[in-house]
Amino acid sequence: MKSKKLIAANWKQNGNYKLLSKLVDGIIKKQKLLKISNDILLLPPSPYLEFIYEKLKKSKSNKIISLGVQNISPYEEGAYTGEISINMINDFKCTYTLVGHSERRHIFKEDNQIIAMKVYQSLKARKKTIICVGETLKEYNKKLTKQVIQQQIKTAFSKSLNLITPNKKNIIIAYEPVWAIGSGKSASINDITNVHDFIRTKMNKIANDKSKSIKIIYGGSVNPKNTNSILKTPNVDGVLVGGASLNLKKFIDICCAI
Ligand code: PGA
Repeated sequence: MKSKKLIAANWKQNGNYKLLSKLVDGIIKKQKLLKISNDILLLPPSPYLEFIYEKLKKSKSNKIISLGVQNISPYEEGAYTGEISINMINDFKCTYTLVGHSERRHIFKEDNQIIAMKVYQSLKARKKTIICVGETLKEYNKKLTKQVIQQQIKTAFSKSLNLITPNKKNIIIAYEPVWAIGSGKSASINDITNVHDFIRTKMNKIANDKSKSIKIIYGGSVNPKNTNSILKTPNVDGVLVGGASLNLKKFIDICCAI
């Protein structure tokens, strides 16, 4: 049986009630019409989680379409103004969290230690946790990609190795080269192959994942044209889509690309 790919829409800080309603309704309708069987994940801005959750529930699409958050607090609860804890998110049946996105790392200065705390919170709450890793252009040019990613992965699990489930299905690694995000220039298939193979080997070492249950997905300027070749690459189990996921047609074409 063809294994399902994970197609994740990261809407970042975009949209409003009107636009996101239209997108979600469109995705639900098209998913049913086209009988899309890949797993779809929506990562909306947090204030819209509840109404999107209700829409998915009402349309009984929640088997194929899951919901996740773009970010969580590294702390359990308390005096952390502006933060959203994993327990608050639990009320909206989010099955996934996204942790360590490059915009969190670079704009909000989250380091590997903070990300390790978030991974711990997420895994402890039994969420499927997408951990983003990736090198900057400067690091890429200096051929430091593997070194950077090794450190990011190693630290990410430093507080939570014992929380990886025996079937490993609660871990997803997203390889997102920083220079490919929003730039219109995705990584080459050669680079994706090399890095995903490297991550596979590392995760096997860290989590003893012989059966390759940990999903490794790619993100960075994914579009309807490049999705098929990216998803056909060995060790690529899905894509994380930013800009193109805000356009219904483009996102549906990506969902149907394989
Ligand atoms: P992009 O963003 O598809 O717009 O490059 C991807 C991401 O940031 O997850």
